[in-house]
Amino acid sequence: MARRIYRFLLVCYCASHALAADTLYQGGDSIAMAWLNTLVSKNGLFTLGFTWLGSAESSAGYLGIWYYNNTSHPFWLANRDKPIADSSGVLALDGSGNMKLTYSAGDLVHFYSSPSSTTNLTAVLEDSGNFVLKDANSLSDRILWQSFDDPTDTFLPGMKLGINYTSGQTWSLTSWTSNLVPAPGAFTLEWERDTQELVIKRRTETYWTSGPLTSNTGFENIVIESAPLDFSYINVSNADEDYIMFTISANQYTPQDRTIFSMWQMKYDGNIVDNFTQLEYGAASCKGNNADAGCEKWSEPACRSSRNSNFEFRSGSFGITVPRKNDDNSSLSISDCKDICWKNCSCFGVTTIGNHTGCTFFYGNFTPDPTGRQALYDIIVQPEPTGQVPPGKRKWLLIILAPVGFVSMMGLAGLLWFLRRRRLREKYLYELLTLDSTNDTPELENDGNKGHNLKVCSAATIMDATNSFSAENKLGQGGFGPVYKVIC
Ligand SMILES: *[C@@H]1O[C@H](CO)[C@@H](O)[C@H](O)[C@H]1NC(C)=O
Ligand SMILES: *[C@@H]1O[C@H](CO)[C@@H](O)[C@H](O)[C@H]1NC(C)=O
Ligand SMILES: *[C@@H]1O[C@H](CO)[C@@H](O)[C@H](O)[C@H]1NC(C)=O
Ligand SMILES: *[C@@H]1O[C@H](CO)[C@@H](O)[C@H](O)[C@H]1NC(C)=O
Ligand SMILES: *[C@@H]1O[C@H](CO)[C@@H](O)[C@H](O)[C@H]1NC(C)=O
Ligand SMILES: *[C@@H]1O[C@H](CO)[C@@H](O)[C@H](O)[C@H]1NC(C)=O
Ligand SMILES: *[C@@H]1O[C@H](CO)[C@@H](O)[C@H](O)[C@H]1NC(C)=O
Ligand SMILES: *[C@@H]1O[C@H](CO)[C@@H](O)[C@H](O)[C@H]1NC(C)=O
Ligand SMILES: *[C@@H]1O[C@H](CO)[C@@H](O)[C@H](O)[C@H]1NC(C)=O
Repeated sequence: MARRIYRFLLVCYCASHALAADTLYQGGDSIAMAWLNTLVSKNGLFTLGFTWLGSAESSAGYLGIWYYNNTSHPFWLANRDKPIADSSGVLALDGSGNMKLTYSAGDLVHFYSSPSSTTNLTAVLEDSGNFVLKDANSLSDRILWQSFDDPTDTFLPGMKLGINYTSGQTWSLTSWTSNLVPAPGAFTLEWERDTQELVIKRRTETYWTSGPLTSNTGFENIVIESAPLDFSYINVSNADEDYIMFTISANQYTPQDRTIFSMWQMKYDGNIVDNFTQLEYGAASCKGNNADAGCEKWSEPACRSSRNSNFEFRSGSFGITVPRKNDDNSSLSISDCKDICWKNCSCFGVTTIGNHTGCTFFYGNFTPDPTGRQALYDIIVQPEPTGQVPPGKRKWLLIILAPVGFVSMMGLAGLLWFLRRRRLREKYLYELLTLDSTNDTPELENDGNKGHNLKVCSAATIMDATNSFSAENKLGQGGFGPVYKVIC
């Protein structure tokens, strides 16, 4: 108890000096949300404590570890899918050797239960950002539990991605559901032991691969500027374990260099961002129909098969008559909404509902707002038709008509009609005069000038075609005017 009060005073006194304790001891030692207690690593770079995440309207409490004093996105969370609604959270290492997170309404989070009563456990927030539970009474220095074995969405130097065959432990990152909700989201970053490369999956489907390691500082599709960091990958592959990690030189852990620190975050949109270079890699640019920089291609409906179809984030609106559908499942991330919309040819766009989760789907035309002042939607942008000639039947004749050309063709048609009528009239008068009614029909066809006949035919069909111009015969806008299919 005395130690607890002492620690409380120490934390209160030293919070602003980043000198607070880095260790939790067995026997009633605790970190309480209500008291704003924290552990701070010896080098002052990492803090463990409670913080609130979410929007201004709705936030929840989480036990996390963050970098220095920046609580906006802790790199590790103990209860990412068990948000604490009040300030009842307590992390405790009790006398029997249990380390657990308790709170008033909800399942507790159990980190470790000691099998024996003779332990003397300590939980230390190390200078690497790893929160490590050990037994001081044990002769071995064995780690009983560590936060690096239970990653959230951030890859720090010294963490592993891969598998330990002996313990069955796997290490992977899982993105948040949205920028406001840290619950496990749609994307994972994993180490693929067969191909020895990093893989980003969306709901278990491969979206992106890093390609093989090209050196100890780079993968084919990830290039980190390593020079100021002394950055290096370590890949281990044997019968016991198969993993990748990265290291930076030890002096990057000293407070003087705190702004030079590399950590990767698996973002909710499917990208990995490196905090040092602020460069992004990964799945956000993958849309199933491109294979750029590590993107995987997969099957999709024919309506989306054009390489140029894509989602764009645009300002505008859907008219009130446009059909829409809500799915308020708060486990759905924007990438799920886009995936569902992409696979349904009637869907034009999506937006999220609460905390940037859940989906509204729109099944009709979007009206863009060029001023950019209206709400933003993820809409599917289809490429404009190119006006290329489709391989049509031979019966179909394609005529490209400039509006001026069209008017003169109509004029020509009228003239030909007039000439033909006049010729027929002359012929009729001639026949009337000669009183020969047995020889009349072949006259027109054998009139001598086939070109005239063809033009008459064309003009007639053009006139027919005008009746249905606006419907299916309009193929697209070229530089010259409308393109029409005409039956001859
Ligand atoms: C963190 O501390 C630095 C000074 O060391 C200060 O400039 C910055 O505003 C602080 N950030 C937060 C989120 O408190
Ligand atoms: C805190 O970290 C976030 C990323 O996690 C970053 O966007 C933000 O700029 C940081 N804030 C400060 C004050 O450094
Ligand atoms: C527990 O270990 C600490 C060192 O980590 C030591 O100072 C303390 O005496 C030990 N307590 C018991 C009861 O063994
Ligand atoms: C793998 O698990 C075994 C058994 O728990 C442990 O001894 C070993 O240290 C682990 N290896 C790694 C790399 O974590
Ligand atoms: C998301 O928002 C709803 C209210 O719209 C709230 O009840 C819920 O707790 C929020 N979830 C999180 C994880 O913040
Ligand atoms: C690490 O990867 C490199 C490049 O792919 C490979 O040559 C090397 O054998 C790997 N190392 C181990 C220990 O597997
Ligand atoms: C990331 O790096 C920037 C400086 O590049 C720093 O201000 C920020 O606190 C770092 N940490 C996190 C968690 O983003
Ligand atoms: C909510 O969405 C998640 C993620 O797609 C899914 O696993 C879960 O079954 C959905 N829940 C309901 C009730 O539909
Ligand atoms: C596409 O969405 C509409 C509207 O929700 C639905 O009626 C239709 O069945 C969906 N089509 C497919 C192929 O899922």
